[in-house]
Amino acid sequence: MVDLVIYGLGETAVLAHEYFLHDSEHRVVAFTVDRSYVESEQFRSLPVVAFEDVASSFPPSEYAMFAASASSRLNRDRAGMFAKAKDKNYRCLSYVSSRAFVWHNVEIGENCFILEHNTLQPFTKVGDNAVLWSGNHVGHRTNIGRHCFITSHVVISGYCKVGDHSFLGVNAAVADGVSIAADNYVAMGSVVQKDTQEDGVYQGNPAERRNLSAKRFCKVR
Ligand SMILES: CC(C)(COP(=O)(O)OP(=O)(O)OC[C@H]1O[C@@H](n2cnc3c(N)ncnc32)[C@H](O)[C@@H]1OP(=O)(O)O)[C@@H](O)C(=O)NCCC(=O)NCCS
Repeated sequence: MVDLVIYGLGETAVLAHEYFLHDSEHRVVAFTVDRSYVESEQFRSLPVVAFEDVASSFPPSEYAMFAASASSRLNRDRAGMFAKAKDKNYRCLSYVSSRAFVWHNVEIGENCFILEHNTLQPFTKVGDNAVLWSGNHVGHRTNIGRHCFITSHVVISGYCKVGDHSFLGVNAAVADGVSIAADNYVAMGSVVQKDTQEDGVYQGNPAERRNLSAKRFCKVR
C-alpha cells in the first residue's frame, strides 16, 4: 500500500479519489493544487496543500502522486501537471480498475488512469500519463503513446500505434496495423483505416483529415 497525494481539484481528481479509495490498495492522504487555485483547507475531508509546498508536507521519498486533469488543450494540461509532479521527484501511481482485463505481459507507464471494462490484450504497451476511460478494446501488440486520451468504447485493433497526446473520441475504430500519429484528434464514431499525419483532426467513415490543425482546434496555441 502506498500513500498518495492527488494533484488537482476538478472532476477528474474527484473521480481519481473515488477509484483509488474504493478500488485500490492505496490510500489517498491529501489533495494538492497550484497555490492560486487553493480555495479552502479541505476537500473531500482531506487536507489541501499548495503544490509549491507539497514536498515539505508530503515528501516524495514517502508519498506518491497522481496528477488528475481533463483532456483539455489536446492533453497539454495533463502533460504539464505530470511533468511538474515528476520535476518534484514524485513517483506517479497508475490506477488500473480491478474490472479491467489486463493480460500479464501488458506494460503500463506512470500516472495512467485505466477504468472499468477496458481490454488490454497480450504485449500491449500504454505510455506514461495515458487515460483509457471505460470500455475500450486494445488489441494485441498495440502501443499507446504518452499523454493519450482514449475516451470510451474505442476499438483499437492489433499492431496499432497511437502517437503522444492524441485523443480518440467515443466509439472510434482503428483498423489493425494502423498508426495514429502524434497530436491527432479523432472525432467520435470515426473509422480510421489508414495511417494518419501529425496534428490532424480526423472524422467520418472512412475517416478523412479535416483542413484543420488539431492543436489549433484544441487551443494548444
Ligand atoms: C469533432 C467534434 C468535436 C465536433 O467538431 P465540430 O467542428 O465542433 O463539429 P461541427 O458540429 O461544427 O461540425 C462540423 C462538420 O463536421 C461534421 N461532424 C461533426 N462531428 C462529426 C463526427 N464525429 N463524425 C463525422 N462528421 C462529423 C458535421 O456534420 C459538420 O459537417 P458539415 O460542415 O458538412 O455540416 C465532435 O464530433 C466530437 O468528436 N467530439 C468528441 C466527443 C467525445 O468523444 N467526447 C469524449 C467525452 S470523454
